[in-house]
Amino acid sequence: MKPFIEPPVSLTRPMLGALPGYVAALRRDWSPDNIRGKVASEEQLRRIAEDAPGFVASLHDPEARGAPIAMPDGSMLPRLPGYVRWVWDGEFCGSISLRWQPGTASLPEYVLGHVGYTIVPWKRGCGYATRALALLLPEARAPRPAAHRPHHRSRQQRLAKGDPG
Ligand SMILES: CC(C)(COP(=O)(O)OP(=O)(O)OC[C@H]1O[C@@H](n2cnc3c(N)ncnc32)[C@H](O)[C@@H]1OP(=O)(O)O)[C@@H](O)C(=O)NCCC(=O)NCCS
Repeated sequence: MKPFIEPPVSLTRPMLGALPGYVAALRRDWSPDNIRGKVASEEQLRRIAEDAPGFVASLHDPEARGAPIAMPDGSMLPRLPGYVRWVWDGEFCGSISLRWQPGTASLPEYVLGHVGYTIVPWKRGCGYATRALALLLPEARAPRPAAHRPHHRSRQQRLAKGDPG
């Protein structure tokens, strides 16, 4: 039997300084979105070219302040709170994300799961995804405050509920 060797993988918060490795992966046939594939990669390359710091900041969004999410059919849906961690073995080798609905373990039907991950094709089969998931799970299990005010309610809606916003 092959001895089990834990892969030298850690999770990092996305950093501007490491963005060139991320861009190289996007250009080399890796997509952060296993459903939208190349379309999502090209979209991210455009966003990075326009505003690299803004792009990096958008990957950490526990208060769902970001833009709505584009669905494969082109429709737009509200963003859930969440964040992305980069899978790191000395360089960028994939991403793993966590998203949630405040105050409940359930998700809207259009969200496929709390955790999504994808490893660059040239580093697959080495246990990276397994290790990344093991590293994220303690954070994922941590309780999250239920008292979260969804940012996508308009000021008009908040005022209608007696909330001055
Ligand atoms: C699925 C994926 C993340 C696996 O990454 P990885 O680092 O190669 O995975 P690991 O080496 O940790 O392997 C984990 C297990 O999944 C299995 N596996 C790997 N790729 C797989 C795939 N495409 N389909 C099904 N099982 C797969 C491995 O055989 C391994 O099983 P084992 O422990 O019994 O040997 C990677 O193939 C990928 O990024 N695919 C595209 C995106 C995707 O499908 N993401 C998952 C859903 S969010």
